Order: sequence, then structure tokens, then C-alpha cells
Amino acid sequence: MKEKLNSIRQSAMELIDKCTELKSLDEIRVNLLGKKGELTALLRGMGGLSANERPVMGALANSVRGDIEAAVDAKKKQLADAAAALKLRAERIDVTMPGKVRPLGKKHPLTQVLDEIKDIFIGMGFQVASGPEVEYDHYNFEMLNMPKDHPARDTQDTFYITENILLRTQTSPVQARVMESSPLPIKIIAPGRVYRSDEVDATHSPLFHQIEGLVVDKNIRMSDLKGTLSLFAKRLYGKDTVTRFRPHHFSFTEPSAEMDICCFSCGGKGCRLCKGEGWIEILGAGMVHPKVLRNCGIDPEQYSGFAFGMGLERIVMRRYNINDLRLLFENDQRFLNQF
Ligand code: DAH
Repeated sequence: MKEKLNSIRQSAMELIDKCTELKSLDEIRVNLLGKKGELTALLRGMGGLSANERPVMGALANSVRGDIEAAVDAKKKQLADAAAALKLRAERIDVTMPGKVRPLGKKHPLTQVLDEIKDIFIGMGFQVASGPEVEYDHYNFEMLNMPKDHPARDTQDTFYITENILLRTQTSPVQARVMESSPLPIKIIAPGRVYRSDEVDATHSPLFHQIEGLVVDKNIRMSDLKGTLSLFAKRLYGKDTVTRFRPHHFSFTEPSAEMDICCFSCGGKGCRLCKGEGWIEILGAGMVHPKVLRNCGIDPEQYSGFAFGMGLERIVMRRYNINDLRLLFENDQRFLNQF
């Protein structure tokens, strides 16, 4: 029996040593130590031994079992370590390799220039206000001194939704809403989308953007308007920008004006950009009409204000020499990636 035990140990050690897979290692263990295993079968035969031999053989059998278990465990660890090492080697990354370049999105040129314009006015103490794009005729026209039969309405081809509701044709209704509902003084800009039923072509679109401005306080004069808007032009177009104000007419301002800047392309000599004029029109402006102040519940004897409005697309097109307005709305990546 002693020899048998020793030979089991011997052949077990050889098997375990040669084993290269966790699965076959487990089979070896079951074959030797399991319920139907070789060693177990041998131990069952111990009943036939003499009382002297039994404890000696028992001890030997236990030590064989212990040795086999230890050898299996050691092998198991060795195989697991090897597998882990292999996996690590397979998954190794080369941190010196160049990374993948993912294309970054960016802001639309309209948004970029609008952000710049907002920053300029915020820097001068303005707040940013907004109003609805689906607007009442009341705010878009009536409050701004354009009653139903006013000829100025014809210049703004309006999308009507009902008789009294329309798509706003200008950002000016935000003026009326702010004056009606805000405490004085007021100093706001209101950028936003506006709509006019124009045919699409290189210079027209049924949807475009305006930026409105409004200042109301005691003792606001034309000189405040000129100073503020000249400074705005210098901030947007460069500190040497020359501005001029021409008389104009808007129903909601009196007096009204348009501001031009000396052409930044030719310096005033006249070129394609300024259509030979030497000047480029930037915005409309004026002193808020006393009637409009009164419409909004503000006493024109105590308060005065100035307002202005400009088109964002035209500013962007001139800045980047874009000759077709449609490019700004088609969202062609090849175009947008240039900004
Ligand atoms: N709303 C005018 C337009 O669409 C632009 C404008 C002119 C706005 C003068 C103003 C202003 O606030 O004072 O043509």
C-alpha cells in the first residue's frame, strides 16, 4: 500500500507539472482526489489493514493528499499568472502614439458676430432682453406709432397669422414690451429672429436677425445716442472707424437717423463693397418718439430715450465679404468651416 501511495504521488506530480490548462488541471484533481478518485478508492481499502498499519498508512495517505492539493494550487496560481500576463501584453497600449483627432464643432458666423456685439454692449452696461417671435400687431406696429393705415407698414411685408397676430417684422416690439413692464431707467439690447415675406435671393430672406437697442432715463439726448453708437462702431470695426449720422425717418423715433461708417475696405474712396459710396450704412436710430413713451406709460416730460436697430446678416456679410445671404442659412460645412 505504501508503494501504491508513493506511486500515486509520483505520477500525480508529473501530471500536474505537465499540465498547461486550468481545465485539465481540474480534471486531474477530480481523478485523484474526487469521490471516485484513485486515492479515495485506496483509502477505502484501509479497513483491511492491521491496527498497527492503519495509522501509519493513514498519515501517509493524508500527506500524499496534502502534497497533491498543494501542487494543484501552486499550478493553478502559476497558470492564472501566466494568463494574466498574456492578457496584459495583448492589451498594452503605446502611449506615445498620436491620438485620434476628432473634429470640433464651432459657432455659426452669425452667432460669433452676435456674441461680439452683445459683449460690446454688455461692456457699456446694457442688459440683454428678448421677446416673442409670434407677436401681436399691437406691439409690432401700433405701440410703435404705426396705426393700421400707416404707410410705413407697407415697407415691412408681414406674415400675418390672424388679423391681430403676426410674425414680428422687427425686434422693435421688444422696446415697447420692456418700456411697458420694466422699472426705469432702461438700458437693453434685444437680439432675435425677425420675419418678412420676401422672396429668397442673394440679399433677401424671409427670416433674418436684428439687434435692437433702447436706453430710457432722465436727460437722455441725441449726443448720448451718437456717443454710444460711435463707440460701438469703433469697438466692432476698429478704433479709427469714422461714423456719420444722416437724417432719416422711423415712425417710433423723432428725430431719426441712420449711422454710416466710413468704408473699411477702401477708406472712403469708393469701392465694390460700399458700392462706390465710400460709406456703409450700419443701423437705424433715433430719439424715442414721445408718443411711444406715452403709449408705454412713460411721461415724456420727465424721461427721454434713444433707440437703434441693426441687421445682423448685413454686418456679417460685409465683415467676411460674403456675397450671398443664402450661404448663411444653408449650413454647408464647407462654407461654415471657414469661420
Ligand atoms: N426696426 C427698424 C427696421 O426694422 C430698425 C430700427 C430703426 C430700430 C430705428 C430702432 C430705431 O429701434 O430706433 O428697419
